[in-house]
Amino acid sequence: MSKTLGILTGGGDCPGLNAVIRAVVKTAMGKYGWNVIGFRDGFRGLVKNDFIDFSCVSVSGILDKGGTILGSSNKDNPFKFIVMNENGQEEFVDMSSKCIENIKENGIEYMIMVGGDGTLTSARDFARMGVKVIGVPKTIDNDLAGTDLTFGFMTAVDTATDAVDKLHSTAESHQRAMILEVMGRNAGWIALYSGLAGGADVILIPEIPYDIDKVCDALRRREASGKHFSIIVVAEGAKPIGGDVVIRQIVEDSPDPIRLGGIGNKLAVDIEKKIKTETRVTVLGYLQRGGHPNAQDRLICTEYGAGAVEAINAGESGVMVALVNNEIKTIPLDQAVNKLKLVDPDSGYVQIAKDIGVSFGN
Ligand code: F6P
Repeated sequence: MSKTLGILTGGGDCPGLNAVIRAVVKTAMGKYGWNVIGFRDGFRGLVKNDFIDFSCVSVSGILDKGGTILGSSNKDNPFKFIVMNENGQEEFVDMSSKCIENIKENGIEYMIMVGGDGTLTSARDFARMGVKVIGVPKTIDNDLAGTDLTFGFMTAVDTATDAVDKLHSTAESHQRAMILEVMGRNAGWIALYSGLAGGADVILIPEIPYDIDKVCDALRRREASGKHFSIIVVAEGAKPIGGDVVIRQIVEDSPDPIRLGGIGNKLAVDIEKKIKTETRVTVLGYLQRGGHPNAQDRLICTEYGAGAVEAINAGESGVMVALVNNEIKTIPLDQAVNKLKLVDPDSGYVQIAKDIGVSFGN
């Protein structure tokens, strides 16, 4: 029997969103003959009933494109939606009932919500209100619980690894310490993976607070062994022992207002105060979220998109597609949200990095 599905992409963009949309539309329309409606700009489109109908819009040629053809927003929480009141002031209004009204009006039986912790928390809350929802785990930060991998992460790791490779040139030519600050919020996944893949000498992650003296010792040891340059990869959420994270910006109207950034510069100042090594900083920023998804992300996005439609066909709801021990499964949305998946300081990659001489500054 024909069904209509709705899909939206919420939160920060990342490589692979279009690949998920394509897989959902192709599986739903091609395999099952169902309709798919895509809401624009995340939950904003659902609140305002602003959508595109995929029976009229092709998804051909989007597999390798960065960003999302639907648009996204990391400010719009449907349960605390910002509206202007009659005095011209912004206030938060719960627009979830309006969303449900729009879902019903469009004859949508299932919503697929693609996003990170914020989007999937709303997905979970809609499921509690009786909406049939399937979540798809997105974020370059790889910090969602319940899945071994979020899509977008491996492409961000490639981008950061490429940056580490390139920084080696100047580090070596000028005998400098080069710091690369990468994203990841309060999780160190991007820093750990790209640091290890790029051959960094020091990797600093939020899960292992660092001692600046230990960082300087590592640089001195390199110098003493005849290596006159060093590469440091630092996660934006890294912090010194007993210290705090560096905040770049407070985005007042965002559900999660703190934007991290600036630890790379702090680190450079602190290093140069203690040792003579000339130190430079590169903040990789939004390059990590842009561009083509790599092959691994395209594969996982296609599996997640198709998997979401298969979960609907199986009558599941209130679940997220997830990669668990190399298999695509579904897990309850409740198990994915409100708890970060952080790097275990005793885990494999940390241990291997230490074994080959990488310092975590502890
Ligand atoms: O969650 C993805 C992410 O890119 C983080 O790594 C980063 O801290 C944050 O989003 C930046 O958010 P914004 O796009 O609001 O600046």
